[in-house]
Amino acid sequence: MGTFTVGITGGSGSPYTLKVVSALLELEHNVIIVSSKAGKRVLEIESDFLLEGTLENQLSAWQKQLNLNSKNATGLTILDENDYAASIASGSSNSLGMVVVPCSMGSLARIANGISSSLIERAADVMIKEKRKLILVTREAPLSVIHINNMLNLAEIGVEILPASPGFYHKPKTLEDLVDFIASRILDRLGVQNNLVPRWNGPTTEEK
Ligand SMILES: Cc1cc2nc3c(=O)[nH]c(=O)nc-3n(C[C@H](O)[C@H](O)[C@H](O)COP(=O)(O)O)c2cc1C
Repeated sequence: MGTFTVGITGGSGSPYTLKVVSALLELEHNVIIVSSKAGKRVLEIESDFLLEGTLENQLSAWQKQLNLNSKNATGLTILDENDYAASIASGSSNSLGMVVVPCSMGSLARIANGISSSLIERAADVMIKEKRKLILVTREAPLSVIHINNMLNLAEIGVEILPASPGFYHKPKTLEDLVDFIASRILDRLGVQNNLVPRWNGPTTEEK
């Protein structure tokens, strides 16, 4: 199966991160995770998920948080945001695509301008230059003209901006239904087959 990179920055939306990582692993893909300092802080605030210590400790924390079995756990790699010698800093890496979820407006601005000041930004820069799939999952609202201009510059070179705006036409009943809606869209855009949410098949007889 394929290898995908998941960048975690300090935007709001950590439930999406957790769902995307666990779904990719369950579907037997390999996942390379790299988080910014702010990304870890938001995971802690929003999902009570504390990532600290060595990379080994962080890997164990992920395994515990996602309740991974030993088979799924082998597909997971954690990298340090300052490790510029890591595989994903090079175009020769086998990462098929990358999603930054959530993507802060600061990270989006730096990626839009080629400022590779962390491994997340460098890996995103590599995806752009190698013309591979790069998806930035944003939450910010409202958007400033600076944000919109940065998004336009990225969209023009093929980077996908995927706002975390769930639809309601599948009649979500729980928070998880809303999270699954966005996670499913992210997997779709990475080209990963999934059945996280039912596909829209037109209105039901009662809705017509
Ligand atoms: C709980 C929390 C939620 C945040 N949500 C957002 C957000 O949705 N969008 C955003 O651009 N920044 C948000 N921030 C601020 C960023 O974390 C901050 O700008 C940080 O410098 C981003 O760093 P990074 O891009 O290196 O991860 C949030 C911060 C916290 C603590």
